[in-house]
Amino acid sequence: MDKNRVVIFDTTLRDGEQSPGATMTHEEKLEIAEMLDEMGVDIIEAGFPIASEGDFRAVSEIAKRAKNSRICGLARANFADIDRCAEAIKHAELNRIHTFIGTSPLHRAIPNLTMDEMADKIHETVSHARNLTENVQWSPMDATRTEWDYLCRVIEIAIKAGATTINIPDTVGYTAPAESADLIKRLIETVPGADEVIFATHCHNDLGMATANSLAAVAGGARQIECTINGLGERAGNTALEEVVMAMKTRNDIMPWYTGIDTTKIIAISRRVSTVSGFVVQPNKAIVGKNAFAHESGIHQDGMLKNRENFEIMRPEDIGLSGTSLPLGKHSGRAALRDKLEQLGYEVGDNQLKDIFVRFKDLADRKKEVFDDDLIALMRTDDANDTLKLKTLRVVCGTGGPADATLVMEINGEEKTAIERGDGPVDAAFRAIRQLHPNEAHLELYQVHAVTEGTDAQATVSVRLSEGGNIATGESADTDTVVASAKAYIHALNRLLVRRGKMGDGVDAREISYKDLA
Ligand code: KIV
Ligand code: ZN
Repeated sequence: MDKNRVVIFDTTLRDGEQSPGATMTHEEKLEIAEMLDEMGVDIIEAGFPIASEGDFRAVSEIAKRAKNSRICGLARANFADIDRCAEAIKHAELNRIHTFIGTSPLHRAIPNLTMDEMADKIHETVSHARNLTENVQWSPMDATRTEWDYLCRVIEIAIKAGATTINIPDTVGYTAPAESADLIKRLIETVPGADEVIFATHCHNDLGMATANSLAAVAGGARQIECTINGLGERAGNTALEEVVMAMKTRNDIMPWYTGIDTTKIIAISRRVSTVSGFVVQPNKAIVGKNAFAHESGIHQDGMLKNRENFEIMRPEDIGLSGTSLPLGKHSGRAALRDKLEQLGYEVGDNQLKDIFVRFKDLADRKKEVFDDDLIALMRTDDANDTLKLKTLRVVCGTGGPADATLVMEINGEEKTAIERGDGPVDAAFRAIRQLHPNEAHLELYQVHAVTEGTDAQATVSVRLSEGGNIATGESADTDTVVASAKAYIHALNRLLVRRGKMGDGVDAREISYKDLA
């Protein structure tokens, strides 16, 4: 491989999906994997096969369908995990087993292994993985807090046992750019056999330095970056794919490395991941935030009109955004809608377009002009496979009394009605939902934002629920804030149902990755 080519290893479907509340359904995982494959991701970490039946099925189906990408599964340092992983990835033309163990003093204490015992285990498990596939990645979890001598020793063992990629995780987002570069550089210089493997960097964003740390690691000699779309992941997330890729493209003069990513596909996958994970992208997020290419202040707008390079270092088209933003209206037809959705980065099939068109017409009837942001909000509300669906909601509310809600919900295809009184319209609607679908979920967050301006603007509502250790977020948009609230609540409940289903068939990946390591 060319010495400046950087391999992109995407872990949206493993580390990203592990994030509390970011659960995706089976179909959603397949769809994201297909998009990753099409955009030129070299390696897709598709899941943690032993974690649950659902994870296993997703990894093996993705392995069967992949056209270009190498499909990787995660396994702890034991034979059962590794065997299960090998079984899941076996159909992929290009596959990889990624096995790991926590090597820092804190992490060694969890399985209570001595340094020597852990070294033996690494040798045994990496050799076992290598007997099952030619492509094995090994990670010393919490590498950045592991003693230098021990880190060198275990990496050497893993290389001798057959690992082909050595990943250096900054598991808790602890390192900083200069240290990240130096660590990789010294490892490559010191560890015998280092020149025969690829070094990877896997950074978490706890101190907001994941992107900088990953690029610094590349400067130090790493040639694989592990990342996720929108930086999805545990706590503050992982390195964002779009950030490292666009940084290398935009500042190629000082970072002379390149990837195989088709950057024009970035916005579409960013939006899709945001929708299916329920994790809203912050407006000022680099590259993919709603404001990343918006120029509001007069001085900036003036500068942009004179020469866009005054305030833009990347072109919106480079990430798949179109420059135009003429609103649609109720007379706009299906072709105009499809065209606009494509400009916004959504590729929709004929059936999906039919469904979206109905919702678009409904929105256009209520709102004179349908702006890009309205369509983006509309695209986020996709409930075709949900168990719970809002059919109708009427609320009587106002000054001088409680609110009364009459709500009809479809539950597994059957319509049911509830009438409830509450302290305001949202409370009444939520009570009616709970009457029809009793649950113990705790409402952790309820947020309302206006999508555009004006009194007929749509409201986007985000809801976060927690139930028995599971967290789910829901989002919806409507010109009626109470309807948007009810839909967002139902959306989160549907996600909790998916999460419960996932729990039922195995063990939670988040629970097992940090304990029961051996
Ligand atoms: O952050 C981490 O250490 C991980 C490992 C499993 C590689 O995700
Ligand atoms: Zn991680």
